[in-house]
Amino acid sequence: MTTRKRIGILISGRGTNMAALIEAAKNPAYPAEIALVVSNRPEAAGLERAAKAGIKTAVVDHKPFGQDREAFERALDATLRAHDIEFLCLAGFMRLLTPWLVDSWAGRMINIHPALLPSFKGLNTHARALEAGVRLHGATVHFVTNDMDGGPIIAQAAVPVLSGDDPETLAARVLDAERVLYPLSLDLVASGRARLEDGRVHVTEAMEPRAPLIWPI
Ligand code: GAR
Repeated sequence: MTTRKRIGILISGRGTNMAALIEAAKNPAYPAEIALVVSNRPEAAGLERAAKAGIKTAVVDHKPFGQDREAFERALDATLRAHDIEFLCLAGFMRLLTPWLVDSWAGRMINIHPALLPSFKGLNTHARALEAGVRLHGATVHFVTNDMDGGPIIAQAAVPVLSGDDPETLAARVLDAERVLYPLSLDLVASGRARLEDGRVHVTEAMEPRAPLIWPI
């Protein structure tokens, strides 16, 4: 029997990406199991969603730690270790991480960012993409390093920017792509088909690209 990697998912909000990972991991052939969902916000809607799906949840509230980010991270890390978590997926986790946590989980922590990195790092990506007038936008799954939103890229999904889009309609289109992209990316990493080597991600056994994505045509 092959062992499935024990995944912890970190959330701060509604948990659409988290739910997609939970759904994918229901398949016994999926190389990862979702062992724990942790939120830094007690009111995050994703917590109830995870509990309903039968997944263990925990809250490590950042507020009592004030400005001491590392103390918060030590509490978070202790919770993850108590549940034997091997690998972390950030899914709408809206806290900046210090080098302490990033280094502790180096090569074992991935994030989904709502833009085609390295464009539009940081916040408000959809409004900024519209402002810049790009024709393609999307999402990126990458390893987390101390370079914020700058870690080695695992996989990306592109969506068109349509005339009449506002940040909400564009965000919804990107989120639909994220729901597909994140489970595929975790599958690649957990199965060993995507490996981090010398600061780059090497992928084996990926499908050949089917067509260029050109928009508008
Ligand atoms: C997603 O769009 C994710 O890419 C983004 O937050 C949203 C969370 O939605 N993450 C970031 O902006 C990280 N900086 P969800 O909670 O419904 O998955």
